[in-house]
Amino acid sequence: MESGALSRAQRALIRESWQRVRGDPVQHGAVLFGRLFELDPDLLPLFQYNCKQFASPQECLSAPEFLDHIRKVMLVIDAAVNHLENLPCLEEYLCNLGKKHQAVGVKVESFSTVGESLLYMLENCLGTAFCPDVQEAWTKLYDAVVKAMQRGWDALPEGD
Ligand code: HEM
Repeated sequence: MESGALSRAQRALIRESWQRVRGDPVQHGAVLFGRLFELDPDLLPLFQYNCKQFASPQECLSAPEFLDHIRKVMLVIDAAVNHLENLPCLEEYLCNLGKKHQAVGVKVESFSTVGESLLYMLENCLGTAFCPDVQEAWTKLYDAVVKAMQRGWDALPEGD
């Protein structure tokens, strides 16, 4: 995982902006997933607990199991923010996490929609503090996380 791609200034911007989000991960995570279901409603059926499908994004966003998934996602981002100086140490974990997502039917392409939703959530949370530099820094970090997860998709061609 390419941690060298983030400059010192970018790492500082990420840490500073994440402070605002981490205080209420479920609320902000719900903004992220609310946006995700708006952008791609086909992702909703991938979330099934006890084989039960949600009838609407609203129903999904209020289910305790889904709120747990939101917490899990925010914890992964939190781990990345806490390891900006040493992202490769998360490589193996993220690769396995990618495998698990392939197993539940997630397509690699969907992670770009997740990235868009992450930026939407950050803008929503940070307001005018969400400047182009902050956006660029987060885009780089997110790309690094997704690249590591993508290595878990066994159908990907060699070297991808
Ligand atoms: C297209 C978007 C996504 C879909 C459809 C999805 C779906 C799922 C499903 C169905 C599970 C298993 C049930 C559960 O634990 O709730 C799961 C587990 C999990 N997901 Fe996601 N997920 C998505 C994105 C993400 C992202 C972006 C992250 C973190 C960066 C993430 C982190 C996790 C974690 C940590 C688990 C638990 C894995 C374990 O049990 O070890 N998910 N996901």
